[in-house]
Amino acid sequence: MGLLNPYKNIHAFDPKTSIPELTGRVIIVTGGNAGIGKQAVLELSRHNPRRLYLAARSRTKFDAALKDILLANPNASSCVEYLELDLANLKSIRAAANKVLAENTRLDILINNGGIMANPPALSADGYELQFATNYFGHAALTKLLMPLLQRTAEALPEMQRNTVRVVHVSSAAARLDQQKGKREDVNEYARYSISKLAQILYARQSVVHWPDVVHVAIQPGRVDTGLLDHYLGSGKRWGPLGLMQRTYDAVAGKLTVEEGALTPLWAATWTGDVSNGGMFSPVGVPEPGSAQCRDDKLAKALWDWTEEELRKAGI
Ligand SMILES: NC(=O)c1ccc[n+]([C@@H]2O[C@H](COP(=O)([O-])OP(=O)(O)OC[C@H]3O[C@@H](n4cnc5c(N)ncnc54)[C@H](OP(=O)(O)O)[C@@H]3O)[C@@H](O)[C@H]2O)c1
Repeated sequence: MGLLNPYKNIHAFDPKTSIPELTGRVIIVTGGNAGIGKQAVLELSRHNPRRLYLAARSRTKFDAALKDILLANPNASSCVEYLELDLANLKSIRAAANKVLAENTRLDILINNGGIMANPPALSADGYELQFATNYFGHAALTKLLMPLLQRTAEALPEMQRNTVRVVHVSSAAARLDQQKGKREDVNEYARYSISKLAQILYARQSVVHWPDVVHVAIQPGRVDTGLLDHYLGSGKRWGPLGLMQRTYDAVAGKLTVEEGALTPLWAATWTGDVSNGGMFSPVGVPEPGSAQCRDDKLAKALWDWTEEELRKAGI
């Protein structure tokens, strides 16, 4: 891949050999039934975690994904479990978190991967702009509900192993922030996506301030050949200015394979070398300064305060 879709495997990260044995560990991958998330579940399952939750919106989607995963790793059935989760619904998020808290005495890795892109204006079950709710706010709620368990897990580990407890936010190079409430019909579907993705980065940055005992990182996986934009590029929108722009970009930049696209979240979740807390990374594990907005602590704090207030109102 070239300049427009950079890919430099600077750590020679190979999931088969670089991921350590995960014996005893508990892991959650949101959006685990498709694309990058499904590939991440497959690779993690090869290293024998105690429990690997594949979070999906329905049992049917989970079953279909597990069937594919078992073809590549028949042993996956010993660790992969279903976690019902709709990130656009706080009730579903609460139920998922309660299940995880009830079933485990530890939680080592949370990969906040599930997401949507370029959807038409819509609201989540709780009245938030749908891309913002799915990509950012739902993950913020889930992370907050699970944080006491993540923190207890880190505390119980020997000092040297504490940095293995991680929250990975799968963001995007498209990150930029504006505002959160309402359908945001005043900005286009790509701008709504960018807002949600910058929010993930800023949240990871502030998480370090509030929960320093756990490692929080944001990554961008690269432009990856998944179904993320199928609904958009398979519709009349493919002929609109954004559709044309996306197709031109894809033709020039090329797409990473799903296997390559999963490398950066997997690296961030399991790399045994240095993974700087609060850092941002591009494929594969390349430190990424990001835009000025990504590094804006005032903006990050404003987002954090707003999120805390909204979660408080929701009883979270
Ligand atoms: N592909 C790229 O080029 C690219 C580039 C930058 C960043 N990313 C990010 O990478 C992440 C994974 O995307 P992908 O490319 O693997 O796309 P994908 O193949 O479309 O997978 C997205 C996953 O998110 C799940 N999801 C969507 N809405 C959800 C909801 N309300 N509740 C729970 N799960 C939900 C989907 O489940 P369903 O099957 O139920 O819809 C699916 O499992 C996303 O956060 C995306 O923004 C992707």
